[in-house]
Order: sequence, then structure tokens, then C-alpha cells
Amino acid sequence: MFTGKRNLIGVDIGSYSVKVVALVGAEGSYTLGGAALFKLPREGGEGLHATPPFISGILKSKGIRGRRAAAIMGGPSLIFKHLKLPVMPEKDLKEAVRWEVRKDLAIAVAPADLVLDYMTAAKAAKPGDNTLSIVAFAAVRSDVERNITLFRDAGLDLRVLEVVPSALLFSFNANNAWEPGVNYAMLDIGENKSTLAILKDKRLSFTREIGIGGADFTKQLASGMGRPEEDAEEYKIAFGLTSGDSDEDKAKKVLSQSVERLCTEVQRSFDYFHAQFREGSVAKLFLSGGSARLKGIEEFIANILAVPVFKDDPLRSVRIPKRFDTTELADIAPCLTVATGLAARKT
Ligand SMILES: Nc1ncnc2c1ncn2[C@@H]1O[C@H](COP(=O)(O)OP(=O)(O)OP(=O)(O)O)[C@@H](O)[C@H]1O
Ligand SMILES: [Mg+2]
Repeated sequence: MFTGKRNLIGVDIGSYSVKVVALVGAEGSYTLGGAALFKLPREGGEGLHATPPFISGILKSKGIRGRRAAAIMGGPSLIFKHLKLPVMPEKDLKEAVRWEVRKDLAIAVAPADLVLDYMTAAKAAKPGDNTLSIVAFAAVRSDVERNITLFRDAGLDLRVLEVVPSALLFSFNANNAWEPGVNYAMLDIGENKSTLAILKDKRLSFTREIGIGGADFTKQLASGMGRPEEDAEEYKIAFGLTSGDSDEDKAKKVLSQSVERLCTEVQRSFDYFHAQFREGSVAKLFLSGGSARLKGIEEFIANILAVPVFKDDPLRSVRIPKRFDTTELADIAPCLTVATGLAARKT
């Protein structure tokens, strides 16, 4: 299938798996063109990097045609920064953001080597407030170029590089009606990290990357059970946070503690968001990423954070043609949120 003139193939390359989503049609009436989730090969407990043949192989096996793609900006140099700046013309704002980001960089980067993007958050409902709340993203140019080369070698034309919080915003927007003034949160729980995004009025208000993911759950489970990581991974996927016999009770406790640590960080971010941005509470939390498939995780997090929690289904507003296996799609849906956001992004 072709994605049409405007749409891009969304390719989310993580440290554990590669996810691809292609949408046909326009916002509000999308049809699924293709979806894929492939685990990256592993060596010595670590996921290997995605290679051009790996990516082109996925597209080929799923019959996804077309060249233009959108991807996630990875790489060690990526930073997020929240800024409060006075309202000013767009051109000056760009310079001001660049200045604010550069001034706190831990490493010396020549101005031409810094790639910068930013989003303005929805204004707080405070009368007389003349400041803009901004989320800025910065990366080193060589990381961007490495991505472009990877895609070119896979036969794709990389048109857009996004960051995870923006992709979460686009995916949410493609699937939900926005209630005015309501704060929604999305938490993408991957392999090595989790990304929290707070959204309001079609904008990103806050984001934070938390260095806890499914790999930590597995590692802690392995040491708690005194078993190899492969066994722990298998156990984690089979049972998750649901209780079993007494032997499994211990494992469940260890796993609960790891998820609790993640919740503590999310709670801290919520608290910071309320205090710094004088915002109300978060109405709903949506979970995505491979670790959102952990059995019982919604109830568990909902109990700790006292917020309604849902497993995200990024295809719930997308028409699914008959040739797709809907049971399989429903199973992997939370993993496809970021790739769907990329595919739903307008060029
Ligand atoms: N059914 C499942 N139950 C519990 N955990 C699962 C399940 N399926 C996958 N996972 C876990 O999800 C994690 C991988 O998630 P995902 O594929 O979203 O990561 P990624 O996007 O490749 O990584 P990252 O975003 O951190 O770079 C792994 O830790 C894996 O064990
Ligand atoms: Mg990921």
C-alpha cells in the first residue's frame, strides 16, 4: 500500500524493538495501511542496533511501500528543557530559546552543530500572565545525520525527526477529543527509559524522561528470584503483577517494588507540574510502550497515583481493514503509540 501524498511512515526505533505504523487518509478518517512490531536481535543481554536491512526487511515483510518516513530522534545528546519566557515575536523567541538552551549546555557545542526545536505550551488560565511556557529539545547535529544515513541506507527518505513527547501528543490528538483545560498524561514505558508527557488543549505542557523501564523490572526480578534474566523476562511477561502461588508471591513483590519506583518519579513530576505551572491535577493517565503490556499495571499504578489509568490504544479511531488480525493488533497496540504519532504527524 502507499501512504498517499501527505502521510509519512512512522518508524519508532527503540532499544528493544522497532515499531512501524502507516496510515492512509487524513486526520479524522485514518485507515490502517500497515503495522509492525519486531524485537531487535540481542547479544549478551543487550539489544543490538537496528541496521538498514533490518528496517527495510520489516517494511518488505509487511508490504508497506512508500519512501517518506518520520522517526524518533535518538542518541545520547538529546535534551529537554522547560523555559518561561516573555511573550515576543516568533523570530526573537527562536533566538531566545537558542540562547537559553546553549547557556546551560554541559558540553561545548558550536552553534551550527546544535539542532533545536521547541513547542509552546497552552497558556495557564491566569489573567495578566505575559509569559510563555516552552518545552525545548536540542540535539547534536551528528546524531541527526546518523539517523538520516540509517534511513537512507534502508531505502527511506527521512522527512521528520521527532522526540517521543511530541509523538505522544500527535497520537493522543489522532484518537481523542480534547476537553478544554483538562490535563492528560501519557507515560511511555520502554526498555531503558520511560517518557512522561502532560498534555492540555492540544499542546505539550510538560515532559520528563525517567531512567526506569522494562529492563530494570527484569533485572530486579532476576536478582530477587536468584534466576537468570531470561527466566525473569519470561516470568515478567507471563504473570506480570497478577498474583500466583507462594513462590510467585515473592517475585510479584519484587516486581511491584520496581514499578513503585517508577510511580514515585511520576508522582514527583506531577507535583512539580502542579507547583511550577500552577496547574490542576491530571485527569487521566495513558500507558504506552512494551512495558504497558505488563499484566495488572493499570490497576497497580492507578492505586498508587490515585488517577484513572488506561492502556493506550493508538488505533482506536483508526479504521482497520479486514486483512489485519485484530486480536494480534489489540495485543501489541500500546507498543504502537509512538509510531502512530509519527504516522499521524502532518508534514
Ligand atoms: N507482554 C509484556 N509484558 C510485560 N513486559 C513486556 C511485554 N512485552 C514487552 N515487554 C517489555 O517491554 C520492554 C520493551 O518495550 P518497548 O518495545 O516499548 O521498548 P523500546 O521502545 O524498544 O525501548 P526504549 O523506548 O526504551 O528505547 C521490554 O522491557 C520488555 O520486556
Ligand atoms: Mg520506545
